[in-house]
Amino acid sequence: MTAPLTVALLGGGTVGASVARLLTEHADDLAARIGRPIVLSGIAVRNPDKMREGIDPSVVTTDTAALAASGADIVIEVIGGIEPAKTLIEAALNAGSSVVTANKALLASHGADLHRLAESKGVDLFYEAAVAGAIPLLRPLRESLAGDKVRRILGIVNGTTNFILSKMYDFGADYSTVLKQAQDLGYAEADPTADVEGYDSAAKAAILAGLAFHTNVTGDDVYREGMSRVTAEDIAAAKSMNLVIKLLAIAELTDDNSGVIVRVHPAMIPNTHPLASVRDAFNAVFVEAEAAGQVMFYGRGAGGAPTASSVLGDVVAAARNRVNGTVDPAQSNYAELTVKPIGDAVTSYYLNLHVADEPGVLAAISNEFAKHHVSIQTVRQDGKGDAANLIITTHRATDEHLSKTVDALRKLSAVREVAGVMRVEGRVD
Ligand code: NAP
Ligand code: HSE
Repeated sequence: MTAPLTVALLGGGTVGASVARLLTEHADDLAARIGRPIVLSGIAVRNPDKMREGIDPSVVTTDTAALAASGADIVIEVIGGIEPAKTLIEAALNAGSSVVTANKALLASHGADLHRLAESKGVDLFYEAAVAGAIPLLRPLRESLAGDKVRRILGIVNGTTNFILSKMYDFGADYSTVLKQAQDLGYAEADPTADVEGYDSAAKAAILAGLAFHTNVTGDDVYREGMSRVTAEDIAAAKSMNLVIKLLAIAELTDDNSGVIVRVHPAMIPNTHPLASVRDAFNAVFVEAEAAGQVMFYGRGAGGAPTASSVLGDVVAAARNRVNGTVDPAQSNYAELTVKPIGDAVTSYYLNLHVADEPGVLAAISNEFAKHHVSIQTVRQDGKGDAANLIITTHRATDEHLSKTVDALRKLSAVREVAGVMRVEGRVD
């Protein structure tokens, strides 16, 4: 063993504090695995007076810019957000440091530029913790599945929304009641917008799509619908059809291989699908590859220690490269596939229509489906006096055709309300 490798930690919050603790607690093992000891050269925070259990106050600094540009062997960024994280990471890369980050928002918006900078400086940029926290996922996608052709990824990549949907399913409660419970338990943030409206999942979907399909995909390329409009009625309908509702991040190759579609939205899946059993705040990612078939990754997607585990894995990989004088291959975007619009997505659908219960209504409704090239798979009618609920599922159709069908149904006088429309995934049609 020779001189220690230096690690600078930017951020000492939920993830940063756990990273600092694990670096200290596992120092001997890490040194043995890397071949050289690691020393924490500094921890940058905003408020130096905050009590931080397990953090040596003598290494805490508020001069974040200086620590980022200090030329440490590895800089860990766990501040989050776009700025100042982007400027700090650029400064670290320019100073010749390898960078490990958990910042999905930054990777999904400026990942390509940061990768180019890292490559030009001959250093590593790793971000395993940015998607699905503790789950080893990005490295298997980049390395273990590198010889295969991924066709589709279906992921539950947001713990907050999975917790809310699991409770809605279990108790038949509505969204706002369960959101309040999730906030009281500390699962959901006071401002839950990024989670419940799908922005967090969209950033993760962009990162997954980029890696799986060797194409630059940003968060803005991802079609996004949140889960705040999922109703107790949708949940009851799903249950009656042996389906469950999940907020899914989906990245898929088009059938003709000419493009990718990346989308985040609530979806019904069969209760026999492996993702259906992923409950509470857990995450899972289901990958369909041509040779491997179906592969699933499961675990904790958030929390200080679980996320720090992934960060530390990246630190060890970057440190080993440092010791061996090498870097990992650069991010590969060779395929340059087009990101196609949501209208091109092909899947099945569930519709819940509140209609007048009178002669000719079913015929008028089915006529609109036929006119717009959507084939009905099942229809169930529950009568309620002069009104009825129609629960309809369809065979696979394009999203464009389904949207046009829904627009036409809304104009029918017999349709009092289109009370629910949701995609159905993972079903054998
Ligand atoms: P956090 O608890 O809010 O911690 C952020 C840390 O950054 C705090 O220590 C804060 O300092 C520091 N900070 C903020 N602005 C700063 C500035 N301008 N200069 C220096 N330090 C600054 O956030 P977190 O939950 O640890 O998340 C960190 C990153 O990990 C984010 O990118 C997040 O998306 C990602 N991530 C988090 C989780 C999770 O479960 N929390 C899971 C996966 C990925 P003070 O402590 O002084 O305020
Ligand atoms: N807010 C995120 C979640 C944290 O609920 O999964 C991990 O990115």
